[in-house]
Amino acid sequence: MLEVPIIQGGMGVGISLGHLAGAVMKEGGIGVISAAHPGYREKDFWTNSCQANCRALEKEIQIARNLSQGHGLLGVNIMTASQDYASYVECASRAGVDIIFSGAGLPLSLPQYVQDENVKLAPIVSSHKALELIQRVWQKRYQRAIDLIVIEGSLAGGHLGFKKADLENQTCQSLEEILADVLDLIADWPNRPDVYVAGGCSSYADLKHFQSLGATGIQMGTRFITTEECDASPAFKEKIAQSSLADVALIQSPTGFPGRAIKNACFQNCEPKKISGCIHCLKMCNPEHTPYCITRALIAAVQGDVEHGLVFTGASIDACNKIESVKDIMDEMKGQKI
Ligand SMILES: Cc1cc2nc3c(=O)[nH]c(=O)nc-3n(C[C@H](O)[C@H](O)[C@H](O)COP(=O)(O)O)c2cc1C
Repeated sequence: MLEVPIIQGGMGVGISLGHLAGAVMKEGGIGVISAAHPGYREKDFWTNSCQANCRALEKEIQIARNLSQGHGLLGVNIMTASQDYASYVECASRAGVDIIFSGAGLPLSLPQYVQDENVKLAPIVSSHKALELIQRVWQKRYQRAIDLIVIEGSLAGGHLGFKKADLENQTCQSLEEILADVLDLIADWPNRPDVYVAGGCSSYADLKHFQSLGATGIQMGTRFITTEECDASPAFKEKIAQSSLADVALIQSPTGFPGRAIKNACFQNCEPKKISGCIHCLKMCNPEHTPYCITRALIAAVQGDVEHGLVFTGASIDACNKIESVKDIMDEMKGQKI
């Protein structure tokens, strides 16, 4: 049983790896490693990215398990948009993670690649309709139930499951409204899954608010970036700590989804240009037409080039103004710091 109903959201590239995930687990939450290019520091990454990523994923899983000292649960976040989706799911499942989270598209085929029934399956959705479809397909094709649900609302960081126009005009359904629809939908499911909400959640008050509406807990991404244990470079963490919501804007990502990121030279200067050395990592991305290579932009950022790299962040960035420890955050979420 989980000691604290907190999920640390998977953050790629390289923002949530074994160190962050292990620290969150040690404090009793669900730590999540992002499977978006965990192998970016491997020697053969640009020539053999799938193998480099699987190798690195196994190493990061080991790091997290060791740091956790047997507490919490370990998840891996695998984006449906990844070209090598099946390989990453099989790798995480073989390595014995507790939960696989999957969003950035509809994870309709996820159960196909997970034979081990002890590995829990958790779709990340932004509407009850998406959840309904996933549940129907998993039941019909695989006789597999959904174990945990993450609802990601419009204030989240990274890729967003909403239309850019709705985000700009603030006409998206609120997280509260989506939660109510989801709770209605699952009310008569046998073995009702736990429901976590994400996007703009950063405090104990947020946790209590969403629990009062029926959620099990919250998933936070941005709040965990400004921690000592976060796997990003110090420059990335400082950029988040020193920026405010006024510095944040929406971008169109080559994945086809909009995203939320810090305004910098990276996307003020993203005219279409010829991409060289493409490793074909995303299903939707066409190197002939993409305005920029998102993999290179995210790797530049995690390594500290926060002016030319792509610095994803959520709308709760104002809650992150200092570097703190994961323990500080988790103590706050246990209600011990108010
Ligand atoms: C820097 C960054 C990278 C992210 N990368 C991913 C990712 O690779 N896959 C994914 O499903 N979600 C990703 N997310 C979304 C988070 O997992 C989480 O759901 C979201 O950040 C929650 O909103 P919050 O940032 O307001 O807490 C990312 C978010 C951030 C801020």
